[in-house]
Amino acid sequence: MTNLASGVRLDACGKTFEDGTRALEPIDLEIAAGETVVLLGPSGCGKTTTLRIIAGLEQPDAGGRVWFGADDVTSLPIERRNVGMVFQSYALFPNMSVAGNIGYGLKVRRVDPAARSREVGRLLDMMHLSGMGERRVDQLSGGQRQRVALARALAVRPRVLLLDEPLTALDAKLRESLRIDIDRLLRTLGMTAVYVTHDQAEAMALGDRIAVMSHGRIAQIGTPQDIYYRPTTEFVADFIGTMNRLSGQCHDGVLRVAGGSLPLPADG
Ligand SMILES: Nc1ncnc2c1ncn2[C@@H]1O[C@H](COP(=O)(O)OP(=O)(O)O)[C@@H](O)[C@H]1O
Ligand SMILES: [Mg+2]
Repeated sequence: MTNLASGVRLDACGKTFEDGTRALEPIDLEIAAGETVVLLGPSGCGKTTTLRIIAGLEQPDAGGRVWFGADDVTSLPIERRNVGMVFQSYALFPNMSVAGNIGYGLKVRRVDPAARSREVGRLLDMMHLSGMGERRVDQLSGGQRQRVALARALAVRPRVLLLDEPLTALDAKLRESLRIDIDRLLRTLGMTAVYVTHDQAEAMALGDRIAVMSHGRIAQIGTPQDIYYRPTTEFVADFIGTMNRLSGQCHDGVLRVAGGSLPLPADG
């Protein structure tokens, strides 16, 4: 697959909805070509709004700009941004076959039937759906439907792949296996991807970097290791959850706490 991935940059993108809700403070965010950035945070912190601004489904407040590579796409509607989207609920066409769903975007783009069918076959293989092309989507399991949604999003060779809690509706076992497949795909295809989740483990597993969000702001952005070992705020430490917070006194590279002392990491 030709790699048309481009980097994404948000400059001062805030969002105030018509009813006055301030969903997003003006945020800056840069995603390199081929990178996966996970937006992680509790419900209502502005993850979906950020994703929708990147997609072109929402306009940022005045002053905000969205860039795909060197292109300012702020005023382009979604259909001219060439993004692929996968949502929590499958949003497939129920009356179409699996192959029809996957090839839909190619048909709209007038790709000829032979090339379309080749491409759909390749995606079916990639998504472990070989032999299921003629099934109706309502004959598939939840996990298979999400694989179809993913294949449909990839078929148009998007510049950016946007995923909004794509595993949340699945049971734990399916979630795990699809998460592994998504990880493999993002890496082998070199996709630029923004992945929204409220699940810390998912974020740790998938993100080249994680942006932890809180109340419409990015509380911290960094590699999973940064976020895990070096949270810069109490909110991030709490949200990542597995931290042991100790209070004591630092002296000569040693933390003294009630009952003992611990050496501190050199960069800590
Ligand atoms: N269309 C809308 N009109 C008004 N408020 C909205 C709208 N969409 C989202 N919000 C509000 O904006 C905030 C952020 O929402 P959202 O980006 O969906 O959060 P998340 O995806 O992190 O759960 C929430 O307070 C939500 O209720
Ligand atoms: Mg959301």
